[in-house]
Amino acid sequence: MPAFTISGPASTRIAPSILSADFARLGDEVRNVVAAGADWIHFDVMDNHYVPNLTIGPMVCEAIRPHVQVPIDVHLMVEPVDALIPMFAKAGADVITFHPEASRHVDRTLALIRDHGCQAGLVFNPATPLDWMDYVMDKLDIVLLMSVNPGFGGQSFLPSTLDKLRQARARLDRWQAETGRAIALEVDGGVKADNIAAIRAAGADTFVAGSAIFGKPDYAAVIKEMRAQIAKGDASYA
Ligand code: DX5
Ligand code: ZN
Repeated sequence: MPAFTISGPASTRIAPSILSADFARLGDEVRNVVAAGADWIHFDVMDNHYVPNLTIGPMVCEAIRPHVQVPIDVHLMVEPVDALIPMFAKAGADVITFHPEASRHVDRTLALIRDHGCQAGLVFNPATPLDWMDYVMDKLDIVLLMSVNPGFGGQSFLPSTLDKLRQARARLDRWQAETGRAIALEVDGGVKADNIAAIRAAGADTFVAGSAIFGKPDYAAVIKEMRAQIAKGDASYA
């Protein structure tokens, strides 16, 4: 099987976060959400150190891997970062992102992710400047902007993220014009059907949503509505 690569910003992806899933039935939950139209599974790893919450690790990633064919997008909210990368790669992760403040050597950590055959990305907290990406653009496959402070599902989208998304989009478009290589732009936190059009219009192409999907009785209906709203946002983005 060829290595997984992320397609460019013209295509969009919905990545339900299993943080809001029923952990007692996780296999069913991931199968159901993929059957409902999810493009990726977003996998939130929290360590009670970098963030004040504690969630799941490589063993759980390995356990859900046989249940779905779609990419697993591992969001590491851990410090330090590096030791977990080989474990998640082995457990079937396709995309691994981390917070640059949590790694002593950001360039090395990005290279480590790619050396393990995964797509690599940096995550920007609401107050983290985009400048962290300046000298590592060649090692980025994806950039993730947090639209809440990391640690918990079910928080409200921070409106300042829209302007930051536009700034990130401009940087990534400039990079693509110069090199021909696209870098995906993901957003995570408080994403709902009623704000996703504006988020798309600001330039995001990959949308994480936890409580908006797993909190609802009909996953397919929410994902369908999100896609319809993304299409509205497309019109203003084009
Ligand atoms: C927050 C996590 C998110 C979270 C999103 O730290 O990184 O992925 O699950 O949940 P919602 O969509 O409920 O804000
Ligand atoms: Zn996340």
